[in-house]
Amino acid sequence: MIEIDGSGALNTREEKNGTEQTQETKLESVIEVNKLNFYYGSTQALIDVDMHIYKNKVTSIIGPSGCGKSTMLRCFNRMNDLIEGTRVEGKVLLDGVDIYAKEIDPVRLRRHVGMVFQQPNPFPKTIFDNVAYGPKMHGVRNKSSLEEIVETSLKKAALFDEVKDRLHKNALSLSGGQQQRLCIARAIAVEPEVILMDEPASALDPIATTYIEDLIYELKENYTVVIVTHNMQQAGRVGDYSAFFLNGSLEEFDTTEKIFLNPSKKQTTDYISGRFG
Ligand SMILES: Nc1ncnc2c1ncn2[C@@H]1O[C@H](COP(=O)(O)OP(=O)(O)OP(=O)(O)O)[C@@H](O)[C@H]1O
Ligand SMILES: [Mg+2]
Repeated sequence: MIEIDGSGALNTREEKNGTEQTQETKLESVIEVNKLNFYYGSTQALIDVDMHIYKNKVTSIIGPSGCGKSTMLRCFNRMNDLIEGTRVEGKVLLDGVDIYAKEIDPVRLRRHVGMVFQQPNPFPKTIFDNVAYGPKMHGVRNKSSLEEIVETSLKKAALFDEVKDRLHKNALSLSGGQQQRLCIARAIAVEPEVILMDEPASALDPIATTYIEDLIYELKENYTVVIVTHNMQQAGRVGDYSAFFLNGSLEEFDTTEKIFLNPSKKQTTDYISGRFG
């Protein structure tokens, strides 16, 4: 049986011959959400959300359409600031720092918490310039440093071999799956701590989807990943933790294993088994 207590400790209890053995592995939280409420005008989209995002893990956000998954994801790097008439109450802490505090610059924050969207959205520039864009914005000018960052980022995004001979061709000439990996390379290029992905594979075919899933799995070695997905198999394959949202509330949060095999709440069971949503 696997359970998580409030302190973020993962307790693994194995019952062997009637004796209970407890191993404790301390999990490190990168993001901590405290009593978060979020409003679009008078519409409340998130209600009293408390949640931890653990370092070097993949957390899947799941739940029916309109339950607040994208809103939650956008709260992690203040992308919701860009939407007029929105309001946030409560706290989102990144490494213990309140990201909604007055002195926080959202542009700098997004260097630490990057985002990949549902539709691949490369800039209409060369492959090289797409990846070099962020580092240049943050002041990297040296040509060989930029070349090194571009190569490393493309390698980490499992795209380098496919594009190494056409780095100076337009990124829009790539396939959808390649464009999405390019967007991941672009996010990686500024060395974020956390990468947010909102249904990153839903516009892709099954093979390109497998590439992205394999990549997400590898990324967690160096990064913390939060992914929104409608695809339960995908959440099961890539997620270490799963957060099930319903009507703006975090209904259940646990290891993916627990959520999928033995959820605590009936609503979670119903959603996982496809009875609604
Ligand atoms: N820009 C916006 N202005 C007003 N209301 C919004 C806006 N974006 C989302 N909402 C509302 O907030 C609620 C949560 O939306 P959100 O996009 O976070 O859901 P979701 O779980 O990502 O859904 P989906 O699975 O369809 O992408 C919904 O009721 C939605 O209508
Ligand atoms: Mg959404």
